Amino acid sequence: MYAVICDSSKKLITHLENKNEDLITVDMFELLSRFSTDLMFALIFGVEVNCLENPNHEAYLMTKEAGSFGTENIVKEITNDDITSNCINILNTAVHTGANAVSFALHELALNQNIQNKLRQEIQKTNEIYGDDITYEALMSMTYLHMFILEVLRKWPLVVLSDRTCTIPYTIQPSKPDEKPVHIEKGTMVWFSIFGLHHDAQYYPEPERFDPERFSEENKLNLNMNAFLPFGAGPRSCPGNKLSTVKLKTIFYYILTHFEIVPVKETKPIELNRNCITLLCEGQVWLGLKRVVKQK
Ligand code: HEM
Repeated sequence: MYAVICDSSKKLITHLENKNEDLITVDMFELLSRFSTDLMFALIFGVEVNCLENPNHEAYLMTKEAGSFGTENIVKEITNDDITSNCINILNTAVHTGANAVSFALHELALNQNIQNKLRQEIQKTNEIYGDDITYEALMSMTYLHMFILEVLRKWPLVVLSDRTCTIPYTIQPSKPDEKPVHIEKGTMVWFSIFGLHHDAQYYPEPERFDPERFSEENKLNLNMNAFLPFGAGPRSCPGNKLSTVKLKTIFYYILTHFEIVPVKETKPIELNRNCITLLCEGQVWLGLKRVVKQK
């Protein structure tokens, strides 16, 4: 699986390097949606579709059309159609979470050059040893890359809320004098906001500031990890957790080895789609890519 992720990431780099421009200006969200479709078809179905080179490929048009998962798909009885629909749902979730997470993260890097430089320094050190054939162990050993990914998932939790059914009656006691207790009966469905937790200044001071240092070994001791739920928690937590983390780390390893991410005149603040329970870019994410000149 890791080999497939590396292979797809290298194709993304080749695709960009083939553009004969000093500053490549690109709608990252569109590009990454095509890349993510290629990667997920390869990983889930073992099929090469190559939407990167062919934006009109039906695989890309299908995932684009389907969007990400909303709240309307309630399965009543399991038929072959339901199984197919669930497979497509998982494929879509995987494509969209990937494309959106990388778009948010690259946008942060373009606006925070000091963080980008620090991340590239760590990646370059590893690259001097492994080049483009980085091992899984070496990828996982990069500590700043890990902190960076955690902060991306903190500030931009792709799934903004989740739910659970209450199995034991429980009372939430007031934490302020003007509040009343909240009684939750057995059988009640409770929705909780992951985005709300991740943007609560009580847990993350200056929550809108993008700062991977929050997750340094030293600072992590002061964090309440119950307020960090990018993949949910417990037996129904996200089964795509490990895959997504490896995927994100691999993509950033390759992109930052080869390119510097810069804002361009078309770069705007990220706009979000308000109609679904996942964080989706609304429209385009224009960014510039400059080739990194390797020191000999
Ligand atoms: C960065 C990427 C991703 C994030 C942030 C994410 C986040 C989440 C969250 C918060 C949940 C709800 C968990 C809970 O209620 O405890 C969830 C569920 C789920 N995710 Fe992901 N996800 C990501 C990628 C993926 C991928 C790549 C796949 C498939 C390969 C996937 C498949 C699923 C499925 C099937 C569920 C439902 C699990 C269940 O109900 O038992 N996710 N995800």
